[in-house]
Amino acid sequence: MAIDVSPITPHFGAKITAIDLKKDLDGDLQIKLKSLLSEYAVLVFPNQFLGPAELIKAGEIFGALMPQQLQKYVLPDYPLVGYNSTKDLPLKDGKLQVRGENYHTDHSNSICPPMATALSAVNIPKIGGDTQFVDVRQAYDDLPSNVQEKIIHLRSLHVHESSRSPRTFTKLSETDLAKIPQVSQPLVIRHPMSHRPALYLNTGRMEGIEGMNADEGFTLINSLYEHATDSKYEYRHHWIEGDFVIWDNRSVMHQANADYNPDEFRYLYRIMLEGDALQAFAQ
Ligand SMILES: [Fe+2]
Repeated sequence: MAIDVSPITPHFGAKITAIDLKKDLDGDLQIKLKSLLSEYAVLVFPNQFLGPAELIKAGEIFGALMPQQLQKYVLPDYPLVGYNSTKDLPLKDGKLQVRGENYHTDHSNSICPPMATALSAVNIPKIGGDTQFVDVRQAYDDLPSNVQEKIIHLRSLHVHESSRSPRTFTKLSETDLAKIPQVSQPLVIRHPMSHRPALYLNTGRMEGIEGMNADEGFTLINSLYEHATDSKYEYRHHWIEGDFVIWDNRSVMHQANADYNPDEFRYLYRIMLEGDALQAFAQ
């Protein structure tokens, strides 16, 4: 099968067409798709219309699925498939409270965060609800060399919710919270396939920088976040029903947008793929 690969931005993102993810793909094509995800970090497959079982099959091209952290948003018949639905979202001052506003990388407080996350678009509002991505590999490459040298050996403790988090997280019971890990992660990671360095940032979960006082650490985190979220590193995905989009959590940050009409129904299936413990770029 000869697939079409069209780069979306100069640095990352590719649209893949002439492929049907519902079909059995041969081994060579599966290897090619894995390699494309490593290279482009975000892959967009239009017109796939994947239901839960088909989404699992498509996800397994890229790796093993892992359980969703929020078990209350999973499908009873497909416990590895979560969903994002407007029906679960609270309203505050007429605006939907969406999980995942503010750029982040999923579950960075896990020892082995998901290597990739993927969504299958079922119902999409007429306007709004885009997902934005920024390329944290390019953002690292563009830092001045003195800044790269300053940060390359640094680490940060990632917790459930940072004391200076710009976003609030789902409130957990004490029992559930006790099960949530916290872990020291490198500030600059090495991608296991491409070997490229990338900034590893999650302002909602980073509890400062190890070896720095709190103000100094959070100032550094915020300045790197400002740099990495510049629009020159961005791809903004406007969802169309039937889209399957998968992204590499070690190469991009992503954020949701709650800018759509709360009366419209928005619904996507969600899966995550198991990842390994993160490696520091500096060995
Ligand atoms: Fe997310």
